[in-house]
Amino acid sequence: MNTDTHVSNRWSSRYAYILAATGAAVGLGNIWKFPYIMGENGGGAFVFVYLLCIFLIGVPVMMAEVVIGKRGRSTPANAMTHVATESGHSSHWSIIGSIGVLAGFLILSFYAVIAGWAAAYVFFAGSGEFSAAAADPATNADAIGALFTDLITSVPQLLIWTTLTIAAVVYVISKGVKEGLETAITYLMPALFVLLLGIMIYSAIVGDFAAAFTFMFHVDFSQLTIEGALVALGHAFFTLSLAMGIMMIYGAYLPKGVSIVKTSMMIAVADTVVALIAGLAIYPIVFAHGLEPSAGPGLLFQSLPLAFGSMPFGDFVGVLFFVMVVFAAFTSAIALLESPTAYLVERQNVSRTKAAIIAGAAVWILSLCTIFSFAGAEWTKLSFGMGGDIFEFLDYLTANILLPLGGILISVFAGWVIKPEILKEEFNLSDTYFAVVLTLLRYVAPVGILLVFLNAIGLFK
Ligand code: TRP
Repeated sequence: MNTDTHVSNRWSSRYAYILAATGAAVGLGNIWKFPYIMGENGGGAFVFVYLLCIFLIGVPVMMAEVVIGKRGRSTPANAMTHVATESGHSSHWSIIGSIGVLAGFLILSFYAVIAGWAAAYVFFAGSGEFSAAAADPATNADAIGALFTDLITSVPQLLIWTTLTIAAVVYVISKGVKEGLETAITYLMPALFVLLLGIMIYSAIVGDFAAAFTFMFHVDFSQLTIEGALVALGHAFFTLSLAMGIMMIYGAYLPKGVSIVKTSMMIAVADTVVALIAGLAIYPIVFAHGLEPSAGPGLLFQSLPLAFGSMPFGDFVGVLFFVMVVFAAFTSAIALLESPTAYLVERQNVSRTKAAIIAGAAVWILSLCTIFSFAGAEWTKLSFGMGGDIFEFLDYLTANILLPLGGILISVFAGWVIKPEILKEEFNLSDTYFAVVLTLLRYVAPVGILLVFLNAIGLFK
């Protein structure tokens, strides 16, 4: 995708747009993060609040972002300026673009480390580690757990994997060789979906599906804390790739006549379905083996390998699975580095290659904080009250603060700054539906985000 300030090319079809946007949305957030934060926050009630956040707040914010991109037909900061002035308002609204650049940069610093874990797991699967570890049913969960602990406490291994990941992302961004990759992902995403379904069915047969289903869908609000509600809200933004200008960039290429409302719904539904299936694949194994739902970031890596270790051709299936996870993560990582790179090119006037290298180097340096956090280094145990180490701090700061803040600004901007006539024309809705959407953007999204947010930082205690 080019970053000229004014874009004139378009997606070849509605389908191409949906695939690309779903590709940006589906990533580690769905397969790695959603299952473990759901476990940490008690299951069903968390899922319920998460679904509300996706459809009442996430979808309207996504529609708003797409409209801004489409009207502005430009990179996020310029699009914001254009649309704000078009409606007679200040260009300071482009601050939304800056929040996105910062969030993308911080997110990538840990995203690349987790993508590195997935890459390492391709090799674990390929060298038969899963089936070896799972050979003795009495100790299999411990052996698979040890495989994970050995990896995350080995700083040299993590340095290699993370460095390779970031270098590959920088290469793709600077050379602009994304087309081939986008073709590959067009096939790999549906393949990942089918494989995930297959794994879910296998888990249902060998694992405790009933326990998993009850855990995920039995809504018991006594299990949910207000902090958990903020995590659900923040994750809705994270998983849909919102508040980072990415949907503005995609919207800028939207052909005429494509329904913003329908496509946004479809993207959100696809993203949610992948997350729920990932949960339904992981939790039957978790409960059957007596693992802890609250195991944290290692959950994916400590549960599914148990299934791979015991299934026919499991090592092969394990390789396939982690290769696809790496690809899903890699395309997200590219989109994440795109915003700081484009920012440097636009604002600091450096060449694209140089910008990608500078941004990549900065991400690499920051990624050391996450690597050492998992390795348990003493100096990472400072987190300014947000989590227990720097990794948890970065995760909290981005998902729970920066993205919701961006979400408030975008919904207020779309609901109050953009002229309603423009919005109505772009959404192409009947009066009643438009009134609903406008209410969501004007009141439900900003007030909802603010309430959850203020509650979580303890203002109403
Ligand atoms: N949605 C991605 C995931 O679930 C993560 C993400 C957040 C992202 N913001 C993004 C990816 C921006 C690409 C661009 O894994």
